[in-house]
Amino acid sequence: MRSLLQLSGLLGILTFTTAEYSAPRNANHIFNAIHASMRQWGSSLHHNGMSFFLASVPEGTQFFHGTSESTPIIGTEWLAFEPEHAMVFAGRRGPPHRVPPPKNDDYDDDNDSPSHHEELRRREPHHAESGERCISPEVEDAAEEDAGYLHTYAAAKDLRLLYIDGMSAGKTAKGTLDSQDVLLFNGSLEDAPTKPGPGSGSEGERARLACELAQDAWEGRIDGVLRMEAGFEIILCAFERDLIPVRITQVKSRSGEGDEGRHNPKHDDHSGPRADDDDKKRKGPGHGGPPGSVNWMRAITHRYQGIGGSRVSLNYDNFVTAFAYDVDLFPSKSTLPRLTGLSQSELDSIRQDVTGLVMSHEATEPSWNWQTTVDMLVTRYSNELSYYVSGKITSLEDLHAEIERLLAPFIDYGDRNTELEVDRCTMHSMPLRANLSTLAARAVLSVARTTCGALFGVWEETQDLKVAVEKTQALVDYLAWTTWKECRGCADNEICVVPIWPLGSVEDYKHPQCKNASNPYDGEGESYWRGLHR
Ligand SMILES: *[C@@H]1O[C@H](CO)[C@@H](O)[C@H](O)[C@H]1NC(C)=O
Ligand SMILES: *[C@@H]1O[C@H](CO)[C@@H](O)[C@H](O)[C@H]1NC(C)=O
Ligand SMILES: *[C@@H]1O[C@H](CO)[C@@H](O)[C@H](O)[C@H]1NC(C)=O
Repeated sequence: MRSLLQLSGLLGILTFTTAEYSAPRNANHIFNAIHASMRQWGSSLHHNGMSFFLASVPEGTQFFHGTSESTPIIGTEWLAFEPEHAMVFAGRRGPPHRVPPPKNDDYDDDNDSPSHHEELRRREPHHAESGERCISPEVEDAAEEDAGYLHTYAAAKDLRLLYIDGMSAGKTAKGTLDSQDVLLFNGSLEDAPTKPGPGSGSEGERARLACELAQDAWEGRIDGVLRMEAGFEIILCAFERDLIPVRITQVKSRSGEGDEGRHNPKHDDHSGPRADDDDKKRKGPGHGGPPGSVNWMRAITHRYQGIGGSRVSLNYDNFVTAFAYDVDLFPSKSTLPRLTGLSQSELDSIRQDVTGLVMSHEATEPSWNWQTTVDMLVTRYSNELSYYVSGKITSLEDLHAEIERLLAPFIDYGDRNTELEVDRCTMHSMPLRANLSTLAARAVLSVARTTCGALFGVWEETQDLKVAVEKTQALVDYLAWTTWKECRGCADNEICVVPIWPLGSVEDYKHPQCKNASNPYDGEGESYWRGLHR
């Protein structure tokens, strides 16, 4: 009965005109952020994340951690969703490492122990700025002969995380770190003079700042942050509190590993910013990446279309995105959104809203999964739009017939009214039980309306094939869906290659292609990330 009553209340919605909903700024970008969330593919292409979501990971979800240590981790560390990702970090030389969590007496606080600095160096991407390796290959090889350990953990409870979207764990200068370094951390990474290591902005420092926020500003309501690089990962603030160790196993020693990904001469001149040489060495593939690095890239491509396994759920009804604010995210016509041009007060107000989000909402509160609605729209129109602008349609009648096929369900052929037809088209995949006033809903409505309006326009008003295709192309450019860059028909031993920091070329970004999965980043062409690293 309740649902009937609810529905009758909702019927009012059916009579509204969708134009009444106020479209948020950058509705297309917000739509795409929802589409790309927790997906390796879309987040690699839309790599400058501007959004913060509350995320929940269910108790019992298994995670992986690679290290030289054979005993369970205490304190703050990195957790990978895929074992191959974690294995890249197994077998590093050096004493056990820990990042002490911020000001919490429950943890051992060995802030100044060598192990702390070892960990910071391990995650420190900037310390080879000269482009020279810090240690000779001989030393490196000797060091890496120590086989390390793969730790498997299970979440001891439902984890409460802040998901920082895009490729926010990619240590690039293209803007992948803006939402952390500029916004969340308020630039405090940049000018901190006392940080260990010659570079600024180390990963250890980010982890420390994130966990400090979690504990202080967010009053312990967040257990860690969820980010993506080549694979999704969590900076979890207190391993011993939130995880149950499942097992610890030794990985194959490097000396026993074949040449996979290490001595391939092609890899040796592969792309990648010079300043990142050391980091590439740390995490290949290419440039002597650790054993298993090709396995790593392969493994993470399995998550192109989603992290899977219901391992993460996001609250789409309440989230914060810089796209919705009245600020300039595209300074001097930048094609990539940046937060670097924002004023202090603009940044402060977005940061306050992130804190407000954390303090007044939960990832697990009832909310509509807007990604499912976004997916319906993308799958409905993606191939069609791409076909309309492909050049394969050679007459206006054919194009009009194709478009009419898509629009026919929304037309009352006995009572034509374009305004109503656009409304029906806009509304047809909207879930009427969801809250249609949220930011996500308004972004989805706006994109649906723009799409429907443009299609009706081309069908009804445009009498010239060239103009019709141009108008459709303008819609395609506006939508900028990542589905249009997906590879078709890769063989079983191929993967679709897109730049994922620190690998990939400009060409891989523009035109991703199926490539040999044993050698996916062949180092041809100009590096996508090169030269832009600070
Ligand atoms: C952010 O940093 C600026 C400049 O360092 C400072 O003036 C401002 O008070 C900081 N804001 C917050 C909320 O800490
Ligand atoms: C619907 O969303 C709007 C905007 O977030 C919010 O103000 C309102 O309280 C929500 N309504 C319900 C019934 O949750
Ligand atoms: C893929 O690459 C591997 C390693 O470089 C090579 O041995 C193999 O022959 C390649 N396969 C194909 C189908 O090109």
